[in-house]
Amino acid sequence: MWVALAFVLLPLPQSGARAQGALIANPGGRASQSLVGKWQTIIDPYENGYYDYRYQPSPNGYFKNAKPRDKSDLVEYDFDKSAQLNVPGDWNTQDPRLLFYEGTIWYKKSFNHARKPGTRLFLHFGAANYAADVYLNGEKVGRHEGGFTPFDFEATGLVKDGENVLIVKVDNRRLREGVPTVNTDWWNYGGLTREVSLLELRETFVSDYFVHLRRGSTREVTGWVKLDGQRLRQRVAIKIPEVGVEKVVETDASGYAEFNLNADLRLWWPEDPKLYDVTIAAETDAVTERIGFRTVEVRGADILLNGRPVFLRGVSIHEEAPLRGGRAYGVEDARTLLGWAKEMGCNFVRLAHYPHNEQMVREADRMGLMVWSEVPVYWTILWENPETLESARRQLTEMITRDRNRASVVLWSVANETPLGEARLRFLTSLVKQARSLDPTRLVTAALERHYEGERTQVIDDPLGEYLDVLGCNEYLGWYDGLPAKADGMAWRTVYKKPLIMSEFGGDALQGHHGDELTRWTEEYQESLYRHQIGMLKRIPFLRGTSPWILTDFRSPRRPLPGIQDFYNRKGLISDRGQKKKAFYLMRQYYFELVNGSRP
Ligand code: GCU
Repeated sequence: MWVALAFVLLPLPQSGARAQGALIANPGGRASQSLVGKWQTIIDPYENGYYDYRYQPSPNGYFKNAKPRDKSDLVEYDFDKSAQLNVPGDWNTQDPRLLFYEGTIWYKKSFNHARKPGTRLFLHFGAANYAADVYLNGEKVGRHEGGFTPFDFEATGLVKDGENVLIVKVDNRRLREGVPTVNTDWWNYGGLTREVSLLELRETFVSDYFVHLRRGSTREVTGWVKLDGQRLRQRVAIKIPEVGVEKVVETDASGYAEFNLNADLRLWWPEDPKLYDVTIAAETDAVTERIGFRTVEVRGADILLNGRPVFLRGVSIHEEAPLRGGRAYGVEDARTLLGWAKEMGCNFVRLAHYPHNEQMVREADRMGLMVWSEVPVYWTILWENPETLESARRQLTEMITRDRNRASVVLWSVANETPLGEARLRFLTSLVKQARSLDPTRLVTAALERHYEGERTQVIDDPLGEYLDVLGCNEYLGWYDGLPAKADGMAWRTVYKKPLIMSEFGGDALQGHHGDELTRWTEEYQESLYRHQIGMLKRIPFLRGTSPWILTDFRSPRRPLPGIQDFYNRKGLISDRGQKKKAFYLMRQYYFELVNGSRP
C-alpha cells in the first residue's frame, strides 16, 4: 500500500483544494528556515530501522528517534552518536565506504522553531534520490519517489514550538519499475542531494503562477495565478514595476485566475538575457520572481526564438560538481559548468538526463543559455507498468511546475534512447500530451535513435517523431560505430519536416593521453572524431542545434577500464579536473564560425 500512496499521510487541517505534496512555486523566494548543514545519519542496508524481523513495517522504527529511558532500556541505535553527512550532498562522495553504496540511509536533523500565528509550515526538499520517507517528531509526513525533482509536505499540524526532530529515510536502490530503471550510464548518487527548508507561508498564500508572453507576441503577457488556503477569492495584482505595468484580477472559488496585460518589454535573448522583477501580490500574500520574456516556436525545420530563426549551439551536461565531483548543487557549481559552456561559444545546454537543480536553470536564465530539460525516461524502462507511467508523469509534472517560469528553458524532453515498440509509443505520447497540457508555450522533444539506409545514409523516422516539435538524435559515428572518418560523406534523412538537434555525439579521451589520431582514448582520436563530425553536421540541411556528449568527464559504474576510465565516462571535452581537451577548442571554433562566419 505504501508504494501506491505517494502522498497523503498526515491528518492536517483542511484548507483550500490543496493536494498534499503539490509543489509550491519559487520556494527560494519565500520566508523560510534553512535546514541545510550537518545531519546525523544511520546507514541501514537491511532497512532494520523500518522493518521488524518479520519484514513488517515496525511502529517503532528509527523515525521515532528513541532514547533509552533508563539503564535497562534496550535501544540499538542512536542518531546523535552516529556519523554526519552534509546536506545538500550525495553520500557517495562524502565517505569512501559509501562510494558504491545503494540502499537506505536515515537522516536526522533537529531544529528549533518559534511558531507564528496565522502561518502554515511546509517541509521543502529540492530533491532526494530515489525514495524518501519523511517523518517529523515521530509522525509520518509523506513519501516521494524520483531523485531529481522537488517536493513539499505541509507540516503545519506537526511543528512544535521549540525543538523539532526531522527524520528522512532515503533509499537509492535502483528499481526495475523505476524512472530511471536499473541500468544507466551515470552514478547512482544517493541522499538528500539538494536544499531542505521549512517554508513559513501565510494562511492563504500564492501557491503557483505562470507568467509568459503569448506565442507570436512580443508585448502581450498572459498567464494564471493560484492561491492556497481559506480565503480563495481575492484581488491579485500582477506587477512589472520596471515597465510601470500592473494588472489586477479576481480569483475564483478555487483560488484561480487568469490574466492578460500589455507591456513594452526588452525580450530575453542568450546574448541579452534580460530579466524583470515580477510580483504576484494577493491581499494576504505576495511573491516576487525574476522572469525573462521570450517566445519559442518551430516553423518547418526552423526553431524561432522571439520570431527569429536560431541555431542552438550547445553541449550536454550531467549534474556533477566540477572539480569536487559528486552531485552538483548551488549557484557556484552552476556558474562554473555554465561558464565553461559559455566559453565554448554555447547559447544552449542539454541538461541530461534528468531535471538538474533549480540554481542551474536560474543561472541559465541569468547567463543567457537556452535549456533542454529532460525526465529520466532512459533506455528500457517498463513501458507497460502503470506505476512506472505514474512515476514518469509525476516527475514530468514536477519538472514543468518548478521551471515553467524560466525563460531559459525552451525544450521539455520526454525520453532518451528508448527502443521502438507500441507500448513505448503509447507511454511516450501520453507524456508528450501531458507536457503540452501543462505548458503550451514550449517545445517538446526526445533523444531518438537513427538507423541506416544502405551504408551511407542515416535515417530518423522513429514514429515518436510525429508527436514532437523538435527531433533529438544521438549518434556515435566514429566511436561505437566505426572510426572517425565514417562520418565523411554520410547523409542524413528524416521523414519529418522538423528541426533536428544532434543531442549526442562524441568519443572518449583521457585528458593528457596523447598518440596518433587512430589510437583510442587519446586526445588526438577525440579531436579527429570531432573534426569529421563537424564536417558531417555542416551538411545536414535540417540541423538546428548540437549538444555534443559531453561537457565534462563524469562518473559511471559502467566504465571500469583501469588507467583510462576508472569508473569515469571520458567523453568530456573537459576532464573531471577542469582541464580542456583538444576537441574542446575545435567545438569552440565551430561555434564561433556559426556566430561570426569566421575563426575566434
Ligand atoms: C548514450 C547515453 C548517454 C551515455 C552515452 C555514452 O547515448 O544517452 O547517457 O553516457 O551514450 O555511451 O557515453
